[in-house]
Amino acid sequence: MITTRILHADIYTPLGSTAVRGENMASLWHLPDAEIEVTDKVITYIGAERTDAPKANFTIDAERRAVLPGFVDSHTHLVFGGYRPDEFMWRIAGDTYMEIMERGGGIVSTMKATREATPHDLYEKAKPYLQRMLQMGVTTVEAKSGYGLDKDAELKMLDTINLLNASNDRIDIVATYLGAHAVPPEWADCPDGYINLIINDILPIVKDKARFCDVFCEKGVFTPEQSRRLLQAAKDLGMGIKLHADEIVTTGGAELAAELGAVSADHLLHVSDEGIRALAKSQTIATLLPLTAFTLREEYAPARKMIDAGCAVALATDLNPGSCLSGSIPLMFALACIYMDMTTEEAITALTLNGAAALGLAERIGSLEVGKQGDMVILDSGNINMLPYYTAMNSVRTTIKGGIPVANNDPTSPKSPYIPRLTQI
Ligand code: NIG
Ligand code: FE
Repeated sequence: MITTRILHADIYTPLGSTAVRGENMASLWHLPDAEIEVTDKVITYIGAERTDAPKANFTIDAERRAVLPGFVDSHTHLVFGGYRPDEFMWRIAGDTYMEIMERGGGIVSTMKATREATPHDLYEKAKPYLQRMLQMGVTTVEAKSGYGLDKDAELKMLDTINLLNASNDRIDIVATYLGAHAVPPEWADCPDGYINLIINDILPIVKDKARFCDVFCEKGVFTPEQSRRLLQAAKDLGMGIKLHADEIVTTGGAELAAELGAVSADHLLHVSDEGIRALAKSQTIATLLPLTAFTLREEYAPARKMIDAGCAVALATDLNPGSCLSGSIPLMFALACIYMDMTTEEAITALTLNGAAALGLAERIGSLEVGKQGDMVILDSGNINMLPYYTAMNSVRTTIKGGIPVANNDPTSPKSPYIPRLTQI
């Protein structure tokens, strides 16, 4: 039995084991000068400091700094081959994301590099991204396939994601199958044939390797009809479903997500009012990715309108080699508050409990409560508004996974905690 006590904690957390929606996103439970006890990874006490507590294996003094649930980055493409810096500059010079795709760049260019990469290459390339995430407070992350676009390369990606998860005890990684990320060149004349191949040959295999099936439902990529067919098949196999929806143009992706009971509809930069109403009435979480709007120089998703309409909003980074090579939680948080009119409390809920719900994990993580996993962050300050105010700078001091400190951004501390290492393959 391993126990950790976190003392002098100024706790801010959403509560519950489901996504929080609408105006409730702004309500955090605030408990100053508190103690959290974690026993064998699970929170066993949270409340006023006890004088009669049993001795623990580890004691961490939070020094009255803010303690929040560990961050959940519920949308990333963290495994990929190659990079696309030249395309990035073309975009800055004025080419659109879609023009670049039509010129053979975009996702298909990462596909080529990913097909060529060995599993070891992909694993080694992803590892440093995970380390940086930990330093920014991320304790659970989702990672999508979708740069292989044929059976073998997609399986290679999913195996890499699952190996990254299995070979470390610092950050949980949830796999999503995104085979329908682009129409692969071999199926350029027949996207329906590619969807059939996925449904008949690939989904029966990946259903045991990925928790979710996702699709890029977008003009020029997969139509709402193709997306519906694919997601219905995934659902029939027991997979959770997600959509890249209304990212570049309005396609009705949000409405489709709500209709199919998707766990999340992601991006939503161009969601219609109809789509917002549909999401508000559904259980589907609106996952917003402000870093992508920022790097694509697009309008931000209408977060304020969505929350005011009663939607459950999550925030994630979308880290990927194309539209958004950034996993910066600090910048994402600042953009959400500065440009999307979210309050600090709403953004915390979006990045913790609602992110957890967007991965179907809200019963286990996403809030600080007895029975949940002891995943948390200690900020540098006792004031949570430092998160957006200290703009794009990391306010996380210590990241704790299952009660064990796994990243520490205070190298001068004489109390620098024990940090386990990622296991090597
Ligand atoms: O979420 N929109 C589709 N997928 C990614 C971009 C992928 C890429 O350009 O490589 C996204 O933005
Ligand atoms: Fe994405």
